[in-house]
Amino acid sequence: MAIERTFSIVKPDAVKKHGIGKVIARIEEGGLKVVAGRYLRLTTEQAKAFYAVHKERPFFNDLVAFMTSGPVFVSVLEGENAVRRYREVLGATDPAKADAGTVRKDFGTDVEKNAAHGSDAPETAAQEIAFFFRGTDLA
Ligand code: CMP
Repeated sequence: MAIERTFSIVKPDAVKKHGIGKVIARIEEGGLKVVAGRYLRLTTEQAKAFYAVHKERPFFNDLVAFMTSGPVFVSVLEGENAVRRYREVLGATDPAKADAGTVRKDFGTDVEKNAAHGSDAPETAAQEIAFFFRGTDLA
């Protein structure tokens, strides 16, 4: 399997709890490298565009409000099977259903405030990386 990249957001709930470093530690312990990163606050327009695939879902407005409620840490991760590997590190979307030892189990609160986001496929990862990073940001 070739080296792959995926995209991560440490969400406002985890950032507020001083959890950026804890999530990065899990990423690195999981065999992935952080190859770019940025601390920022999403605008409402950015959050709506980033989560546009969910715009018909009943939780969309709440999700946008939550994702703009405080700063986030966006990053690009690299490693073997990075998309799948990071999803394993994160655990299930709903922290209540996530396996022990996963980021969402340990740092998430509920299905919305679930500590971190990871791309769901290599194609999505490429789009999500390009949403926040230019080619020249990536070593
Ligand atoms: P994320 O991996 O960022 O991708 C979409 C997000 O929508 C997801 O994590 C959750 O934060 C949120 N989400 C998914 N399903 C629900 C739900 N049923 N209720 C509220 N938020 C949800």
